[in-house]
Order: sequence, then C-alpha cells, then structure tokens
Amino acid sequence: MDAKEKTAQLFFVSNLMEWNKKSNKRLMPWKGIKDPYKIWLSEIILQQTRVEQGLNYYNNFVKKYPTINDLASANENEVFKNWEGLGYYSRCKNLIATAQFISNEKSGVFPNTYDEILGLKGVGPYTAAAISSFAFNLPHAVVDGNVMRVLTRFFGIETPIDSSKGKKLLSTLAQALLDKKNANTYNQAIMDFGATICKPKQPNCNHCMLSSNCLSLNFSTPEAFPKKAKAKSKSNRWFMYFVSIYKNQVLVGKRQKKDIWENLYEFPKIEFNKQPTIELLKDPEHDELLKKMGLTISEIPQFHVQLLTHLKIHACFMDVALSRKIQLEHFEYVNIKSLNNLPFPKIIAAFIQSNKFSKQV
Ligand code: ADE
Repeated sequence: MDAKEKTAQLFFVSNLMEWNKKSNKRLMPWKGIKDPYKIWLSEIILQQTRVEQGLNYYNNFVKKYPTINDLASANENEVFKNWEGLGYYSRCKNLIATAQFISNEKSGVFPNTYDEILGLKGVGPYTAAAISSFAFNLPHAVVDGNVMRVLTRFFGIETPIDSSKGKKLLSTLAQALLDKKNANTYNQAIMDFGATICKPKQPNCNHCMLSSNCLSLNFSTPEAFPKKAKAKSKSNRWFMYFVSIYKNQVLVGKRQKKDIWENLYEFPKIEFNKQPTIELLKDPEHDELLKKMGLTISEIPQFHVQLLTHLKIHACFMDVALSRKIQLEHFEYVNIKSLNNLPFPKIIAAFIQSNKFSKQV
C-alpha cells in the first residue's frame, strides 16, 4: 500500500468515527446491546430484509421468546407463523435448529468465538462478524450491502462486487480499515452511515463528512457504484390454488421439498411455467388434480402477484366445494377457523384475510 492509500484509509476511519460520535442519530432496539441471542436474532431477521420491515418482527420475537431456551422449546408452526411475511423461510428453519442446538448441546450458552459462531446454521461470514463484534467486540469487519456501497464509492472501486475478485478485495479492505479496539462501534457506524448518508439512491453528499476525499463524487457519480457484473433477471411461476372445502374443513398441506416457502402451508395447486389457459389445463400433465376433484374449469380467475428476489409468483384461487372427502398425499383437512394459526406464504395469507374468505374463517 502506498502512502496516498494509507492517508485515504486513515481519513476514512477517523471521519467515519467522528460522524458516528457527533451526528449518527439512528436508533434501533438491538443497537448497543450485548446479549448475543438478541443480536443473533436481529441479524438473522435483517438478512435480506430492510430495517423498517424487520423491526416489528424483532420486537415481537423478543417479547414472545425472551431467551434462546424459550425459542428452542416453542411450537414450530407458531414460530413460522411469527415469521410469516418476512420471506426466505429457510432462515426461520435455521433459527429454530440453531436455538435447539444451543439450548440442548451448549446448555443455552451462546458461543463466543468467531469460528464457532460461523459454524452455526444460517450464519455466514457477514453474520458471524456482526454477532462476534457486537456481542463480544471481536475484531471482525462486517461486509454487507451498505459496507460495499460505502467502500466502493469512497475508494472509487470499479471491480464488480459480485465477482470473486471484487469480494476478496472488499473483505481485505474492510478488515484493514476496521478499528480493531472498537470493532462493535465501527461496524455499526459504517452500516448506519451507508443507510442514512451514503444511501443507494440520492446519497446525502452535501452532509457527508467524507465527501471531500470521495473518489466517486470527485471523478464520477456515487450512484454508479457499486458496479455489478451480472444483471438481475426474474423468472416466473404460476400457481393455481384450489381452496377445497368439505363441511367447514379446508384441505391444506405443508410444503415439503427444497423450494421456496419450505415448511409453510398451501392449498392443493397446479403449477405452470407460463400463463395458464383453459387449453393448457386439459393437458394430461396438469389435469390429474382436476380429475381427482371432479372439476371442470371454464374460466381462470385473476392472478395476484408476489415478487421475490429472483422470482415473480402469480397465484390465483379457485373455490371448490367438495362433494366428498378426497385424500391427497401430504394434505390434511383443517377446520376453517384454525386456518389463521398456520403459517402461509404472503400471497396466500392475503387471500385468507381478504373479505371474501375471512367471513368463513
Ligand atoms: N443490517 C444488518 N444488521 C444491521 C445492524 N446491526 N444495524 C443496521 N442495519 C443492519
């Protein structure tokens, strides 16, 4: 590293810490706490989730499960119900597994080394650095979306952040910058700085204490950073759900295979990889369930849409009044009134809450 780079790094750290001390007004319930269980919980909730969205979930979890042993001994459907709407349900599955592991195998004591924390299910390098620095002040730099944005902008880094070269470069730089004695404060400061000043769109460069030396501001435009190699593309899936009711009982099944929404419940459905038509429903590949239910479809209901990161889900719902109690593998009959106790994907939960259906529930 040459002297110029060293000077830039020293400027970055001292001004960031100064900003944090004087101007960082961001308040969040997990900020400054030392309980590793609560920090872990907040970090798992905040993976892929915005702080504003995660806040209520965090408060609710802490209230319902104040300790890791409470979470470990909770009913799993109830925990998934509390996670409902947050998405990325494998996080919830790992949360339960990890709570049970720590409660049963570690006497409820959260591990206190980086390597042990990294070994927990659902914990990657970012989350391990966050927990070990916030709870134990261990010297591990966090590298999340905020940090990558701040560093690529300030240091004018053009290497794509989704390339292995870019990832390596950023984790080395982040670790070199880390204020090792104050890892907890520094890590929280850089994330807060990214979220409130160096924002993805319309960064607040006018109020930025780092702007005089920010390479992206001086030679380009901050919003052009970070650079990415791959463009995001979304694929589509169409789900036609059959809300099948027999005498106040509705058929629901827990999603089994490794796919989106694992462990959540759904109605029997036919899946399509393109917008279905009446013609397509006659295809032998799709008509098995219809035959079993004794259904003929003359009109396809309107589809609702839910966007996931790489996927656009289209779902429609057909009411089916069953004349006899048919059986489907992995599906069970549940009283309509208990439907609200089960965890569902957002798009199905919204349908259940809709005026039309909620009258029955
Ligand atoms: N995102 C993930 N962890 C965070 C934290 N501790 N503070 C703010 N945003 C975060």
